[in-house]
Amino acid sequence: MVTLNINGRDLQVDADPATPILWALRDNLDMTGTKFGCGAALCGACTVHLDGNPIRSCVTPISSAQGLKITTIEAMEGDKVGKAVQDAWVKHDVPQCGYCQSGQVMSAVALLRTNKRPLDADIDNAMSGNICRCGTYQRIRAAIKDAAKTLA
Ligand code: FES
Ligand code: FES
Repeated sequence: MVTLNINGRDLQVDADPATPILWALRDNLDMTGTKFGCGAALCGACTVHLDGNPIRSCVTPISSAQGLKITTIEAMEGDKVGKAVQDAWVKHDVPQCGYCQSGQVMSAVALLRTNKRPLDADIDNAMSGNICRCGTYQRIRAAIKDAAKTLA
């Protein structure tokens, strides 16, 4: 058993310590908001926060998360920054197929926690690891700026 702190709760996971966080979330805990895309830290679909930092959960073993706080897309609605980002996402009608979007939101929230007025270059830099095959990048950028205004 591995104890993981996820969205503020200590949860027991019956999995090998080498199991990626992504699969502990999805398979052991039925938290399917975090998506599997590439499995190789290349697409960002699986992004969660580990002690506030965006990480690729597909390549991060649960052993490395012990004693740290994991935050997932499921907690964003109840989070001030997460809610502002999600509201802006809705307002700008950001998603197309939606597959990449929970990862996009998690990276955007991490950006806005450390940079309250991100410039285009800051957004490009923070979001560069999140691939969107539908090409929603312009709407993502607009929504991040809108969320920043809401939070100002
Ligand atoms: S599934 Fe983790 S980066 Fe693509
Ligand atoms: S909305 Fe389809 S991959 Fe991003």
